[in-house]
Amino acid sequence: MWSLLALLPLISPAAAAHRRWESIFAMPGVNATYDYVVIGGGTGGLAIASRLAENASVAVIEAGGIYEIDNGNRSVVPLYGLTQIPFIDTSPNFPPSPWMDWVLIAEAGADAADRQIHYAQGKTLGGSTSFNTMAYHRAPKGAYQRWADGVDDDSYTFDNLLPYFRKSCTLTGPNQSKRKATNTTINYDSNMCGDSGGPVKVSWNNWVDPALTWLAAAVQTLSLPISPEGFSSGKITGHSAWIPMTIDPKDATRSSAETSYGREAFRHNMMIYPRTQATKILFNANKKATGVEVSTMGVPYTISAANEVILSAGVFHSPHLLMVSGIGPAATLQAHNIPIINDLPGVGQNLWDPISIGSIYVVNVAGGATIAADPANWPSILQEYLQDAAGPYSSAAGFLAFEKIPSSLRSGLSNKTLTDLDSFPADWPELEYIAGTFPMSDGSTIASISCTIQKPISRGSIDIMSSNISHPPAISLNWLSSPTDQEVVVTAVKRLRQVWSSVPASMIKVGDEIAPGGNVQTDAEILEYVRGAANPLWHASGTCKMGKAGNVNAVVDSHARVFGVTGLRVVDTSAFPFALPAHPQGTLYAFAEKIADDIKNGD
Ligand SMILES: Cc1cc2nc3c(=O)[nH]c(=O)nc-3n(C[C@H](O)[C@H](O)[C@H](O)COP(=O)(O)OP(=O)(O)OC[C@H]3O[C@@H](n4cnc5c(N)ncnc54)[C@H](O)[C@@H]3O)c2cc1C
Ligand SMILES: *[C@@H]1O[C@H](CO)[C@@H](O)[C@H](O)[C@H]1NC(C)=O
Ligand SMILES: *[C@@H]1O[C@H](CO)[C@@H](O)[C@H](O)[C@H]1NC(C)=O
Ligand SMILES: *[C@@H]1O[C@H](CO)[C@@H](O)[C@H](O)[C@H]1NC(C)=O
Ligand SMILES: *[C@@H]1O[C@H](CO)[C@@H](O)[C@H](O)[C@H]1NC(C)=O
Ligand SMILES: *[C@@H]1O[C@H](CO)[C@@H](O)[C@H](O)[C@H]1NC(C)=O
Ligand SMILES: *[C@@H]1O[C@H](CO)[C@@H](O)[C@H](O)[C@H]1NC(C)=O
Ligand SMILES: *[C@@H]1O[C@H](CO)[C@@H](O)[C@H](O)[C@H]1NC(C)=O
Repeated sequence: MWSLLALLPLISPAAAAHRRWESIFAMPGVNATYDYVVIGGGTGGLAIASRLAENASVAVIEAGGIYEIDNGNRSVVPLYGLTQIPFIDTSPNFPPSPWMDWVLIAEAGADAADRQIHYAQGKTLGGSTSFNTMAYHRAPKGAYQRWADGVDDDSYTFDNLLPYFRKSCTLTGPNQSKRKATNTTINYDSNMCGDSGGPVKVSWNNWVDPALTWLAAAVQTLSLPISPEGFSSGKITGHSAWIPMTIDPKDATRSSAETSYGREAFRHNMMIYPRTQATKILFNANKKATGVEVSTMGVPYTISAANEVILSAGVFHSPHLLMVSGIGPAATLQAHNIPIINDLPGVGQNLWDPISIGSIYVVNVAGGATIAADPANWPSILQEYLQDAAGPYSSAAGFLAFEKIPSSLRSGLSNKTLTDLDSFPADWPELEYIAGTFPMSDGSTIASISCTIQKPISRGSIDIMSSNISHPPAISLNWLSSPTDQEVVVTAVKRLRQVWSSVPASMIKVGDEIAPGGNVQTDAEILEYVRGAANPLWHASGTCKMGKAGNVNAVVDSHARVFGVTGLRVVDTSAFPFALPAHPQGTLYAFAEKIADDIKNGD
């Protein structure tokens, strides 16, 4: 199916000593039995599979292939993560890349101009970490406390998750001599990752985009100074930070779930079935999950689980597969003639999807992507990258800030909006700023500062269109259906304009605002604009919500076990009770570590 030579980069010398690389791939088309069967070789899936494989046999069923082959170096070189992944385009004109992405089309809903949104989701070993933006940090403590309170289980407090956070990663501090940017203050806890070789490499970019330093200065004028302890400390609100990325600093390559946990397969008893789709979860008469019906390029067979099946197919496909397997709202299952294993109304509900809006100007400082787009620079920056793991190719943005809406704008919000916002823990931020720069074809640089709402009140849902897993799930994002979200996004745009009117921004911006644009001024005009322009940050969560038995929409308990059946857990962002006010990958890795421990401890 692919050339053997192309797979050679997957070999790491230490790993090869334990197991030869070709031994990690299973024989497709043949029934087989393992202790655990993990559906989805993505972020949550590879993390839990590799831990379980320390003590048991594990199969990983992954619908996609291997991105180092299917996507060349574009999922590997950090800068390309920002500039060379055209298939994350959300517009209806996106270039389909079904060898990397599920090509899902979601409905934004009536309050978001009835737009169709292409919602990128990884379909490859490593899942969405094969083309995410690599930002690594952790949510505020109050968010984890809310998670723990909601499920009556203190395992989910920040302090109790900390050992799992630390177990999942290896930290390398910033190399300021490579960064050459003395104006980027970095504070962090050097113990945020463990000292025993956690799989995911976390480090600061080995180069700093000069334009980004100006945007960072502009965002800080919102009274958001650099955090004294960094954004993995459990405190983010009211601060900015230069955050680390999931990049291996040794050669400045993406550290995905595949290059980290996935390659643990070289040492452990884990067998991978690439290009293999789980088509149904199988249950015995006692409603115990016994295995998975799969298809490798149309050839059906069965992979059985002696112990358990772990579902890690992601926020859209995990509820999808549960429903076609007979677990979900009874009316939905009946409508498609699916025999009911368990009537579980929450499956596919509770979709939290924080949306984002940007304000864009041309700037007079060259950004990293602009430098890399100029052929005159290619020889030198390529040499810098390949020899020193530094320079523009080694770097992928990395400046964030979080705040609560300041009193000057808060006083203009309605009582209902204030009530909604105040229903969250006190340290839960309301707005997040992300700065980025992009090249224009004429060699100039455009800069975007985006704002993502962190307390979305609107909820979407996932439905099925057929009992056949080959037919994609129906995704209703339902963006901006809550008037609270509408008020907050209007406030967000006002806040972005305050950033752009700051002194540092005035020194670099050229001409008028490109978007939203000078004709978008009144609250009504801003809201109208956002309805037509909002985008996801791809942090969708909560469609197989963790909760207490009988809670509205609860699908899994605090050990990630699906209610009403045995032998089946969900370990991915669908099992989160809500979208965290944070980029989720760090928490997902810790969550997978925690559930692997639960399983080993017999919980
Ligand atoms: C463009 C983008 C940028 C992002 N940026 C960041 C960031 O900077 N920082 C951050 O923390 N987070 C970021 N995220 C979010 C983060 O990457 C995701 O939340 C996380 O990776 C999701 O992990 P998961 O395990 O839930 O699902 P995934 O990693 O998507 O894994 C699901 C896997 O299941 C497979 N699968 C699905 N159905 C089946 C089936 N029936 N049979 C077999 N296999 C199946 C899929 O192919 C996939 O490999 C970003 C996401 C995107 C898309
Ligand atoms: C594989 O397993 C399925 C389900 O148990 C069974 O129907 C089928 O006959 C098996 N195939 C072989 C070749 O044993
Ligand atoms: C599982 O394997 C790990 C790594 O080899 C080991 O540290 C641990 O003690 C084992 N646990 C059990 C329950 O056997
Ligand atoms: C990525 O691969 C392309 C095609 O081989 C090559 O031209 C380019 O230089 C590579 N980029 C880097 C940064 O190595
Ligand atoms: C930092 O980068 C410099 C320049 O490439 C290099 O000489 C040095 O070894 C690096 N420091 C560390 C701690 O890796
Ligand atoms: C920060 O330092 C870099 C490198 O010297 C420089 O290019 C950039 O303009 C500086 N940014 C600010 C805001 O002074
Ligand atoms: C909003 O709340 C304030 C303080 O609780 C109250 O005085 C005011 O009447 C409320 N306004 C509306 C429109 O309900
Ligand atoms: C499921 O749908 C696919 C694609 O439309 C089709 O090829 C396949 O035959 C269908 N399977 C069943 C069991 O109907």
